[in-house]
Amino acid sequence: MTKAIRAKISALGTYVPPRLLTNADLERMVDTNNEWIMTRVGIRERHIAEKGVATSDLAVEASRKALAQRGMEPSQIEAIVVGTVTPDMFFPSTACIVQNKLGAKGAWGFDLSAACSAFVYSVQVGAQFIASGAHKRVLAIGSDVMSSIIDYTDRATCVIFGDGAGAAILEPAENDSEGLIDFIHEVDGSGGQFLYMPGGGSLHPTSKDTIAKKMHYVHQDGQQVFKFAVRKQTELCLKLLERNGLKGSDVDVFIPHQANLRIINATAERLGLRAESVIVNIDRYGNTTAGTIPLAMNTAMEEGKLKKGSLVLLASVGAGFTIGATLLRWAF
Ligand code: UT7
Repeated sequence: MTKAIRAKISALGTYVPPRLLTNADLERMVDTNNEWIMTRVGIRERHIAEKGVATSDLAVEASRKALAQRGMEPSQIEAIVVGTVTPDMFFPSTACIVQNKLGAKGAWGFDLSAACSAFVYSVQVGAQFIASGAHKRVLAIGSDVMSSIIDYTDRATCVIFGDGAGAAILEPAENDSEGLIDFIHEVDGSGGQFLYMPGGGSLHPTSKDTIAKKMHYVHQDGQQVFKFAVRKQTELCLKLLERNGLKGSDVDVFIPHQANLRIINATAERLGLRAESVIVNIDRYGNTTAGTIPLAMNTAMEEGKLKKGSLVLLASVGAGFTIGATLLRWAF
């Protein structure tokens, strides 16, 4: 058997729309307060797309930055994987729309649905095309306009989510000192009932009735998701570290999905991570679903923590449930 080619993230671009939705704004919209949001979730503000701005627009902005960083033309991209739960529309896929807007004439692509794990899943799917030798330049994107599926009269969900995107270019690694090392993904479909959007699909096509019942919005049993997130994120990360002969304290940069500061802190403690290795930016962006991990990678770079050679652990839990843990060495 020929040896698989290791993939690396060779560039990263992120984008959030400029408009801010602060806790003070939310206090005027629903029965909530800054103190509850800060202590229970850890969010101060989130970015919200203007009407008419779609998931593909955020994805294209992020992709352009990644391409510019690498000095690459859109036409050099061979495949595009877009992780999202808020596609521009059911079809065509957001990947097709991104391909057209970007002018990535040589690329094929598709969307991937894994909610908050969608970026890490997109990266691994892209990495398999590199590993097999099928492609040399893949764009893995996580992009969501969560504000398009949030009920801004429901205080339990509307304070949590924001809009944002990130795009990573995947290329073959130069050698084994950089790139993606290992990953564990799991799904547990029995958790589907705790976080979902029931309306608009083939089971409940959009009708006056589905709209009256608010089935076109996100529904969440927060406590169930919280408990599952802490338990499974920790379990998968420990398993991944162990089978690579590593401990939590060996991790240079821990980049978790940003859903709740308490989930991040509980996971970090159970993994025995060094405090300075844990990347947090939920205060500025909220939960951007597929956007959180690339946005947190960008924060880690801005803070000077993510450097060439850094040992990085990514962790995600999302609707499905979907869970992901990825180990990699940062390559630039
Ligand atoms: O990214 C996908 C994965 N999603 C997650 O990981 C989310 C996981 N879950 C969570 O982060 C948390 O469960 C939430 C942030 C969603 C909720 O926090 P919680 O500490 O679990 O609160 P709770 O649902 O148990 O509610 C506690 C109280 C309730 O009032 P009572 O019944 O104790 O009187 C809620 O009605 O807080 C109330 N509450 C609020 N109060 C002020 C719920 N939302 C709000 C709010 N402002 N926005």
